This record gives sequence, structure tokens and C-alpha cells, in this order.
Amino acid sequence: MANEQDELNPFQFGRELGSDSLVDRKEEVAEIVRTIRQGGKLFLIGPRRFGKTSILKTAAEQLTEKSAVIVRLDAESYSSLDLLVTALVALAAKHLTGEVKKAGTLIGQFFSRIRPELEYNPQENTWSARLGVDTSRHHHATLLVEAFNGFERLAQAQPERRPVGLIIDEFQKVIELGGPSAEGQIRAAIQTHKRAGYVFAGSKTRMLSAMVGDASRPFYRLGSVRFLGPVPRDDFRRFLTEKFTSGGFKIDEGAVDHLMDAASNVPYNIQMLAHTCWTDLRTPGIHHPRLSIAAIDQILHRIVMRQDPFYTLLWNRLTSVQQMTLLALIRLEGRNLQSSKAIAMVGKAPATIRKSVHLMIESGILREEESLNSVRMVFEDPFFEKWIAAVILLTRE
Ligand SMILES: Nc1ncnc2c1ncn2[C@@H]1O[C@H](COP(=O)(O)OP(=O)(O)OP(=O)(O)O)[C@@H](O)[C@H]1O
Ligand SMILES: [Mg+2]
Repeated sequence: MANEQDELNPFQFGRELGSDSLVDRKEEVAEIVRTIRQGGKLFLIGPRRFGKTSILKTAAEQLTEKSAVIVRLDAESYSSLDLLVTALVALAAKHLTGEVKKAGTLIGQFFSRIRPELEYNPQENTWSARLGVDTSRHHHATLLVEAFNGFERLAQAQPERRPVGLIIDEFQKVIELGGPSAEGQIRAAIQTHKRAGYVFAGSKTRMLSAMVGDASRPFYRLGSVRFLGPVPRDDFRRFLTEKFTSGGFKIDEGAVDHLMDAASNVPYNIQMLAHTCWTDLRTPGIHHPRLSIAAIDQILHRIVMRQDPFYTLLWNRLTSVQQMTLLALIRLEGRNLQSSKAIAMVGKAPATIRKSVHLMIESGILREEESLNSVRMVFEDPFFEKWIAAVILLTRE
């Protein structure tokens, strides 16, 4: 029964969405499509759970429909660069339609420097690859560069109108795996590529922004950079209103906005909260379930408390300075963390608070949110903030 309900549920979270279910993001998708069509280079950088992967997927779908050759990889799925390279080659092979044997030969030619050995599985129409070079003797960043060069050769061999693109998600992982020299090597190779398009996306805002925004780093001005902002609020409001309404819900005034606020505008959290409101409020026999502010708050509390063991663990792993900093941050709504008020709340010097904030950004608990003329510290997971407010703050006050 639960599964049936889930299938009907218009709010989906925790998986990559495609063009049929994505709210807005048209510009971002169009920019990726354009970049690949023109053989350009683009970095897409955004906070966690803002929809980067869904945007990449949608763009890839659009391009593939027009018979482009698109290889899309998530660097987080590979524990070493040679495995990523192997996947790249296998996926590239899949696009070379026509005779299987010929495709194998062609891939062998394009990627000759890494000597791929390919195997075709006709049942599943998939390829698997092995690298013929001794991977223990090669620096893995060199293998990756050779794979990029092979990809460019493959691109050049395609008819002029057929776009060819390589999309790598969680790109910071490539640099982590490849070591400090990887950045320079990758740049040196792909800056000469004119035919293949490259889109690199990532979530560790600081790390990737430093990579592309620091003039002393190799990726500086290698391509364009797009920072992903939130989904426009009006569009999300319209989407939520329409889906709840067509599901027979009566919506109280301000309830949809309250739902988006409760999720701090993070798309993943909005969808999760909306999903649970949908399942929990639709009781058999009631034709018009009501989406009210009180109901949203109750459901939110339940979601947050379901995660209690996880959040408790997360909280207990923090140092006491970090814990105090988070409490101050909630009370001050993320602003003025260097003020005398904040110093009094944490009981530590400004430098100590700064360091603790910095560490929590590095570990993915906090992120900086820039608006026109100010910077605010926010929780990467807004429900962790709710948990702290409900469990820790309440008991201390
Ligand atoms: N444009 C959107 N419209 C509606 N929902 C969205 C949108 N973008 C993201 N979401 C919601 O957020 C969830 C996560 O999206 P996605 O995996 O694409 O984000 P991400 O930025 O790649 O996340 P991560 O940082 O975890 O890799 C989706 O399953 C969906 O629920
Ligand atoms: Mg992602």
C-alpha cells in the first residue's frame, strides 16, 4: 500500500529528477546544453541538495534526445581515478552505435594510450572495460588526462553537428583522488580541446570556488562558472500549490510559504516535507485534507525526531565550542557572529569562533549564504537546525 501511495505522491526527494519534474532551472539546463554544443567548458557550483545532479541529468537527457554523445559520471562513485577512467571509456563505447566490433576497434584507437580492453554485453546493451596499461605504474592523473585526450579524439571523429560532452558530477573528488598535480595536468590537456564540451559540477562550495576563482590555481578562467542559487520561490510556490490542489487538498493561507520557510528553501527539504505532508494528511474517507500551518509544524517535528539518533551522534561529535557556536548562530539567525553578543554567548574569543565556523564549513555542517549586501551562515541541512532548536535549545532555556 505504501508503495502505491508513493507512486502517487507528486513530491519526490533523494533521487535525481528529470525534466518532467524539475521546478524552474531552465537557464541552468540551457547553459549546459549550449556549453556542450559549442565545445566549451563550464563549472556548475552549488550548495548541497540544491539540485545540481538533477540539472545535469535533465541537460544530458535533452542532448541525448538530439543524438549527442554524452558521458555523465559521478566522481563520488569511484574510489580511484583508474576506475573512473574505465567507466568513462565504457560509457563512451555505448554511444558508438553500429557494429559492436567496429565500436570496440574505434574506442581502442581513440583511447590507444590507455589500451582499453572492452567487452560487450548484448543482453543489457552495456560495455565494460579494463585498462591494458599497468595502472600501478602510471600516475592516475596521467591516465585521466589520456582519457580526456581520447574523448577529444572521439569527438573530432563525430559528424560536425553531433555534440559530444563529458559531464562530471562531484568534480572535487577527481582532484582529491588525483592529488595536487591533477589540476594543472587536466587544465593543460583540456584547454587545447576544441570539440568536446566539458561540464564539471560540485558541491563543496569552498573547495571548488577556490579552484576556479583563485588566479594562482590552474582552473582559473578555464571556462565559465555558474553558481547555483535557490529555486525561485514563486515557481516553487506555484508547483506546491498546484500539486496539493490537484490532490484534493485545501490549502490554508500562508501554508505553502510556511512549508518553504520551514525547509529553509532547500529544494530537497521542501520536497521531503511536502512528501510527508501529502502521505500523512491524506486519510481514507477524507476527501479534502487540509494543509495548515499547525499540521506542517507537527509533521516537520516528526520528521526531525525520526532522525534523532543520527542528529544526536552528529551533535555529540562536535566540540563544545562548535556546539556553543551553533547555538549562538541559531539565536542570531546566522549573522554577526563576531559581535560582542556572540562572544558572550560562546564565551570564546572571535578568532576561536571563526575557526570553529570554518571547521564546520569544511565538514559540511554550515555554509555561507550570500545575499546582496550580507553574508549569513546557514545550516547545510536545515532539519539539523530544527533538531537543535527542539532538543538542545529548548532544554537549556
Ligand atoms: N528544481 C527542482 N525542483 C524540484 N525539486 C528539486 C529541484 N532541485 C532539487 N530538488 C529536490 O532536491 C532533491 C535532490 O536533488 P539533486 O540530487 O539533484 O541535488 P544535488 O544538488 O545534486 O544534491 P547533492 O548535493 O546531495 O549531490 C531532488 O530529489 C528533489 O527532491
Ligand atoms: Mg548531486
